[in-house]
Amino acid sequence: MKISQRLRKIATMVHKHYDHIWDCCCDHGLLGAKLLDNNCADTVHFVDVVPDLMQEVSAKLERFYPVTDGKEKRWQVHCIDVALLPIADKKQSQLIIIAGVGGQLLIELVQAILAKYPQHSLEFILCPVHHIFEVRKALAKLNLGLIDEHLIEDNQRFYEILHVSTQSQQAVSLVGNKMWDLTRLIDQRYLQKTLAHYQRTQVGLLKKPSLDEVQKNEITQIINAYQALQPQS
Ligand SMILES: C[S@@+](CC[C@H](N)C(=O)[O-])C[C@H]1O[C@@H](n2cnc3c(N)ncnc32)[C@H](O)[C@@H]1O
Repeated sequence: MKISQRLRKIATMVHKHYDHIWDCCCDHGLLGAKLLDNNCADTVHFVDVVPDLMQEVSAKLERFYPVTDGKEKRWQVHCIDVALLPIADKKQSQLIIIAGVGGQLLIELVQAILAKYPQHSLEFILCPVHHIFEVRKALAKLNLGLIDEHLIEDNQRFYEILHVSTQSQQAVSLVGNKMWDLTRLIDQRYLQKTLAHYQRTQVGLLKKPSLDEVQKNEITQIINAYQALQPQS
């Protein structure tokens, strides 16, 4: 089946071999299947809460990735809430991918996983559909450090993809850092669009009779941070 440019980009960000990769909120399981094809992990875990979906994913995996004699099964299917991820061995390398869900849910899931496994070394690749600023702020607060970040446009929507870990010491920037290449048109368009969004939000906030000072200061800070990315002319 055809895999989106966004999921393909995520797959290319998996540079090394892991003991376990968790394709969380996997829906159709296309990303996990691509990671199986690329032989990125000993075990690829497919995780989603919808039972019918997971039955379908299981059936497809049985068909296209059957267990061959004498070989270990390379995949597992879990019909559970991602907040309850059953990560077992602390010594084994673990990459948790959460993509295609809203920023607030994504933050809650990362928080729940870190709270459940405070002693584990974990890596995450995260690609929310909205609220990337809030996601970045939450990741920094959770002491996750940056490994890599990319900006892509797929189907007329922009996505930031963040690879972070509990071990990296590199701070997660609130507006992005190494992903920007403002010589590219896509980056220029994304920056303009994002700035315009926050400027509209600021105008809306200023119209409110009971103006929340904290919100007002935060939006000014966000706008200043994005404006600072613009090349000086
Ligand atoms: C739009 S799909 C994303 C599919 C794929 N990850 C992608 O990026 O294209 C969102 C999926 O998240 C699942 N989901 C939402 N909340 C979840 C949770 N707490 N635990 C597990 N799955 C969840 C939904 O069932 C749905 O299949």
